[in-house]
Amino acid sequence: MSLLEAQNRVLSGMRPTGPLHLGQYHGVLKNWIKLQHEFDCMFFVADWHALTTQYENPGQIEANVWEMIIDWLAAGINPGSTTLFIQSKVPEHAELNLLLSMITPLAWLERVPSYKDQQVRLHEQDFSSYGFLGYPLLQSADILIYKAGHVPVGVDQVPHVEMTREVARRFNHLFGRDEGFVEMAEIAIKKLGRKNAKMYRNLRKDFLEKGVQESLEKAQAMLQGQSNISLGDRDRLFGYLDGGGRPILPEPQVLLSDALIVPGVDGNRMSKSFGNCIGIREAPSSIEKKIKTMTTDPARVRRRDVGNPLKCPVFTLHEIYSEEDVKTWVKEGCTSGNIGCLDCKKPLVDAILKEQKPMLERAKQYEDNPNLVKSIVAEGSEKARSIAKSTLEDVRQAMGLNYR
Ligand code: TRP
Ligand code: SF4
Repeated sequence: MSLLEAQNRVLSGMRPTGPLHLGQYHGVLKNWIKLQHEFDCMFFVADWHALTTQYENPGQIEANVWEMIIDWLAAGINPGSTTLFIQSKVPEHAELNLLLSMITPLAWLERVPSYKDQQVRLHEQDFSSYGFLGYPLLQSADILIYKAGHVPVGVDQVPHVEMTREVARRFNHLFGRDEGFVEMAEIAIKKLGRKNAKMYRNLRKDFLEKGVQESLEKAQAMLQGQSNISLGDRDRLFGYLDGGGRPILPEPQVLLSDALIVPGVDGNRMSKSFGNCIGIREAPSSIEKKIKTMTTDPARVRRRDVGNPLKCPVFTLHEIYSEEDVKTWVKEGCTSGNIGCLDCKKPLVDAILKEQKPMLERAKQYEDNPNLVKSIVAEGSEKARSIAKSTLEDVRQAMGLNYR
């Protein structure tokens, strides 16, 4: 695979910790769905990552894996254009994790905020395992093994992608410049033809000597258009451009969605750990009940009491789900005490159920036919595996492990 293809590759994963909720849908999944039209997308269930905190209940994991895939399909992930797979079905992730662990300073793992936070926050469970500390590096292996260009995640995951970039940089620095790299790059330049070779040299010089970012981008664009050089030469020329070695493991970028923070039924951010979630495939009657009993502005005890929508999580949901006219009606009614909270919640329930309806319809064929889900995942895992194998070949070779 060339680096060009990789730049167009999007990769992300989720831990199978239970039914997908509206917070995850609006925060992450909607972004995935949008991206699948523009990029070569790969999404996977991070079942090994789930084990870092839930190794005590192995019975639960399988059901969660399949339910998560159905949730994705229900939400609109298109299995025809997107590769869906399960982490543990691609054991190459584990080998890359091991190899990267050799060059990753312990301090990089210890300073990742999620590690420090979790240690403090979840003190009732034992998180002193080696696997838990290594969580972000396994994530780096997940990303780097596909040479993914972009990783769409929520803000909480940004430090992990940052660490992935550092690991890739370190790897490329240590192993990227193979013997004769400069000579081979010079030969590759000649293969561009007189005009393009000259252009490449000038742009490279501009970038390396004067730091002109635009020149770097121009040269990259020119390389993208070259169809008559080999993929290896193209990667080499990409690497030679910025003065570094051949980037064996390209650095991924975070793709932050304009993620919405969805409030849960208790007013806190919707999250499994708070038990305040509404599942995307939850029964409509249960959704209705949860919204009806959802926390509101505490100032409104009686119907006549005036409220402030800005202090009310129900209104935050209106901001996500409702049109302007409904929001105006809420604001006026709430601040004047002219509508009750139940009146206010009614159009919200309708909007949530309206959004849910096509999801339930899409989910049905998969719920009725588990083999369909399994075959989608089997195909995706096989495809993922062939890409992963090819990256590992490069990595083994770079690290001097390709002997027989
Ligand atoms: N850590 C991610 C989460 O909890 C899940 C994950 C695992 C992931 N591997 C990944 C996300 C690789 C993006 C890329 O949400
Ligand atoms: Fe919240 Fe609506 Fe009640 Fe106002 S009327 S407090 S916005 S639920």
